Amino acid sequence: MLKVALVVGTRPEAIKMAPIVLTLKRTRGMKPLLVLTAQHRRMCDDVLEVFKLQPDYDLDIMKPNQSLFEVTSRLARRLERVLRTEEPDIVLVQGDTTSTFMGSLCAYYLRIPVGHVEAGLRTYQKYSPFPEEINRKLTTAIADLHFAPTEVARKALVHEGVPREHVFVVGNPVIDALLHVAAMDYPFTNRKLASLDPDEMRVIAVTAHRRESHGKPFVSMMRAIRQIVRKYRDVVVVFPVHPNPNVRRPVHSILHGVERIVLVEPLDYRQFVKLLKLSYLIITDSGGIQEEAPSLGKPVLLMRNVTERPEAVKAGAVKVVGTDTGTIVEECSRLLDSQAAYRKMVVRRNPYGDGRASERIVKITRQYLSRVG
Ligand code: UD1
Ligand code: UDP
Repeated sequence: MLKVALVVGTRPEAIKMAPIVLTLKRTRGMKPLLVLTAQHRRMCDDVLEVFKLQPDYDLDIMKPNQSLFEVTSRLARRLERVLRTEEPDIVLVQGDTTSTFMGSLCAYYLRIPVGHVEAGLRTYQKYSPFPEEINRKLTTAIADLHFAPTEVARKALVHEGVPREHVFVVGNPVIDALLHVAAMDYPFTNRKLASLDPDEMRVIAVTAHRRESHGKPFVSMMRAIRQIVRKYRDVVVVFPVHPNPNVRRPVHSILHGVERIVLVEPLDYRQFVKLLKLSYLIITDSGGIQEEAPSLGKPVLLMRNVTERPEAVKAGAVKVVGTDTGTIVEECSRLLDSQAAYRKMVVRRNPYGDGRASERIVKITRQYLSRVG
């Protein structure tokens, strides 16, 4: 039995790794070992429940308002213990969080091979996204297998000197997860969401959380959201608020009590996908949502200065609008006022995959382990 440890810390990692765990479970001769760092506590638990997964280890590292230093040091000691005890054949990590980087570093210290899912995304700007750009590059330096979602990502890795034969374009398993969940019809548990009628009001889904935007940029983004609902009386904003206190404070102080702005707790993945499906457009700074939206035909205004996901921008589904209040309001108004501008961004081809990334990742991992083992 080949033992494949999957390190999962935050909501997006849980969503993108879940289909790989499910695929490994049904693959003969392979066994997943799900190591939940719980860098995110409730948000990871919600995802695992949707996919009916139980962690084999729960490192339970989250503390309220944790610093990068605290997260990093807690991860090191707890991951060491699990990896020494279990001695997996390979460790898979996903994306660019601190759990991702520490998962790969701890595996390296124990000379365990590492597979990096969603490898090769770059902005080439050290502090944007922060600390994800550097987490991703450091993980590249350690990984033995690089699962690039797209050709753009593959080229970036090869250009940086990663041997071609270690890089595989497989798509992004977020699409596997999305297709799995989009097929379920799950009711909203929140009453306000259950009563939304997209034929009567245009729904804008909003999310925001990036560390590089904490402080002033956040205030500026929230003012934009407030101006948009004041300007358009047929618009309702639904905003599942990330639990990071540095996000909650400005969101609540600027948007709480504003008419036609519904602030809710983070939605479980089924309900969030349902929200995206009934939305007219999406305003976000999220990485994952840029990848999901083109499959659902929903335009995204991206509240960041730069993106490591240029494919969605090129496809026309995502527009980078920065964090300035005036620019966000202007770009959103264009989509709300002009059918032509809106239709141009309704793209139904997804550059991030076909829903079969997990199959490919498991197959390549098995081939690799049978070669090196
Ligand atoms: C983290 C990742 C970021 C990723 C994002 C996805 C790092 C450094 N950051 O950012 O790359 O894009 O997750 O959302 O790895 N909290 C809860 N409950 C939860 C989750 C979070 O209360 O279920 C609160 C806690 O107060 C916690 C804080 O949010 O301390 C911040 O969590 P953390 O994982 O450190 O950073 P994020 O901003 O969530
Ligand atoms: N998401 C969710 N519930 C929410 C908001 C987002 O399930 O209330 C999902 C979303 O569909 C995407 C992922 O969480 O798959 C993105 O997470 P986040 O924006 O926190 O992280 P990022 O992708 O920016 O790292």
